[in-house]
Amino acid sequence: MSVEQLRIEAIKEIKEASTQEACEKVRIKYLGRKEGKLIEVLKSLKDMSVEEKRTIGTAANELHQLLEHELEEKIEKIKRSEEEKKNRFDVTKPGKRIASGHLHPLTKVDKEVRTIFSSLNFTIVEGPELEKETYNFDKLNIPAGHSARDMWDTLWVKKEGTNGLLMRTHTSPVQARYMESHNPPFQIIVPGRCFRYEATDASHEINFYQIEGLMVGPDITLANLKFIIETFFKKFFKQKIEFRYRPSYFPFVEPGIEVDIRLKGGKWLEVMGAGMVHRNVFDGVKYNHTQVQGFAFGMGLDRLAMIKYGVPDIRLFYSGDVRFTKNFR
Ligand code: DAH
Repeated sequence: MSVEQLRIEAIKEIKEASTQEACEKVRIKYLGRKEGKLIEVLKSLKDMSVEEKRTIGTAANELHQLLEHELEEKIEKIKRSEEEKKNRFDVTKPGKRIASGHLHPLTKVDKEVRTIFSSLNFTIVEGPELEKETYNFDKLNIPAGHSARDMWDTLWVKKEGTNGLLMRTHTSPVQARYMESHNPPFQIIVPGRCFRYEATDASHEINFYQIEGLMVGPDITLANLKFIIETFFKKFFKQKIEFRYRPSYFPFVEPGIEVDIRLKGGKWLEVMGAGMVHRNVFDGVKYNHTQVQGFAFGMGLDRLAMIKYGVPDIRLFYSGDVRFTKNFR
């Protein structure tokens, strides 16, 4: 094959090559050191005249350079167009989701609970997390030495010049605080953070959230409690629920009960403690227990969130792990 023919053929193939690999194949085919077509030409020179050696040799060298150059340009071109393709804006593609912040699952549940109770005409009240022993215990009919204090593993706070300071173990102290400064009738809920001095596991944390409820008036009964609780849970879980009321003991109520719920196809779950406010609690806040009565309840916000979202471990809420919180966008 003449050098000219090789040139025509090689240029055509370079034109046709559309990938870097294809270019590489062309390079090997024509410029390969062992079996390239140009080498073949040079090898055949040995049988030729001096004149032919010179002209054909020169032409072959020029073709070598030309092909090197052409290949290089072609590869550059391919790279550029690949790059362009990558950066091209495709208006038909679905848009990228913009990463934005969102509420923590506990915040969501807290908001929902507040909304539901507000719609039932409850006032939202808050109280201090650093609490006095009297409010956390004494005024709730749990005097010092009472064995019921063992129900709450307490984080006591030692500060010079003070005693009887603790991190509240429940939201119940706000019952007494509120009643000391307000007259019945009223209905309140108290969402808030609580603390317990205990080992953590899947259902216990050293801090967690509760929602306290308190409704006091001249003729409040357990029937009112049932209505409010059942209305709340139905609104919260947005489905039919079965309820079970079991007798229980909490020093600040008499009778005391525990409320269980069962969702569609599920197991019975204990969700709150409740009862009729104990007369000693009313006496402690200077209410006349012959003229008013009321119900109280307390439930764990974390527990509600765990049931609602199927979260298996309370500690996940406080892990700060975005792989967990991301699920609640
Ligand atoms: N404070 C209780 C606790 O943390 C829960 C509770 C039970 C609150 C009965 C109440 C109640 O208001 O009536 O275990």
